[in-house]
Amino acid sequence: MKIVKSIEELISYRKSVTSKVGFVPTMGALHNGHLSLIKQARIQNDIVILSIFVNPTQFLPNEDFNSYPRKEEADIKIATLAGVDVVFAPDVNEMYSLQEPKVIAPRDIAYILEGKKRPGHFDGVLSVLMKLFHIVKPHNAYFGKKDAQQLFLVQNMVDTYFLPINIVPCDIIRDADGLALSSRNIYLDSKQRAKALSLSVALKNGSQAIMKGEREVVKIEKIMREALKEVEVDYVTVLSRDFKFVEHISIKETLLLIAAYVDNVRLIDNLWI
Ligand code: PAF
Repeated sequence: MKIVKSIEELISYRKSVTSKVGFVPTMGALHNGHLSLIKQARIQNDIVILSIFVNPTQFLPNEDFNSYPRKEEADIKIATLAGVDVVFAPDVNEMYSLQEPKVIAPRDIAYILEGKKRPGHFDGVLSVLMKLFHIVKPHNAYFGKKDAQQLFLVQNMVDTYFLPINIVPCDIIRDADGLALSSRNIYLDSKQRAKALSLSVALKNGSQAIMKGEREVVKIEKIMREALKEVEVDYVTVLSRDFKFVEHISIKETLLLIAAYVDNVRLIDNLWI
């Protein structure tokens, strides 16, 4: 496996590749969720490029950019075992200059839910991805459905700027008890983990209500909230898949989304109907 630090080297490597390239962008600290993206990329492409870059522009000034886990050595071992061909791990100075234009995510979508308390977060995500997409020039790029809002905004950017990239949404990976994988799960002790399971239970209850014929959003959200009494809910939302708030859902076009705190650990989960 090749490890590339410089943009110039990656661009020159990329020019030498004529077969199909799959790209998995990450901020490192790889876990099984990332592995499932790599696995899918491995199946669908000849070459798999994984980026590891803790992107400063998607962190707000009060957020944990400095303490965000950096585990490059372990990540490189995991990537090697998973069959990645190239790890692209540039320095911040390599990726950003002092003055540059950035991609501005549409406000009506980027400032709700995950973006409400993180204004500008999605501008940072899209700006770094625009750079990475131009450097890597992938045929396919892999994103988890767990970050549903990010996935929607990335697809929207690719469509808006006519980028010739196929965005591949990958299913949420869950532990056997239903808890969606997250790098934050390691912060949960056994009691907190039991509380955290209420997120997947709430999603299941919401979807069962829909299956039984409930279409009214307020009622579905109420059913979901009933399962969430032991956690501090940030939001419980039933939306159309294009992130529009609706009063009544149409089956097959719906997203159930939850963000909640278990003590001070913030977890998100969602279900695509
Ligand atoms: O989802 C992430 O890990 C990041 O937002 C991404 C897509 C790698 C951009 O920095």
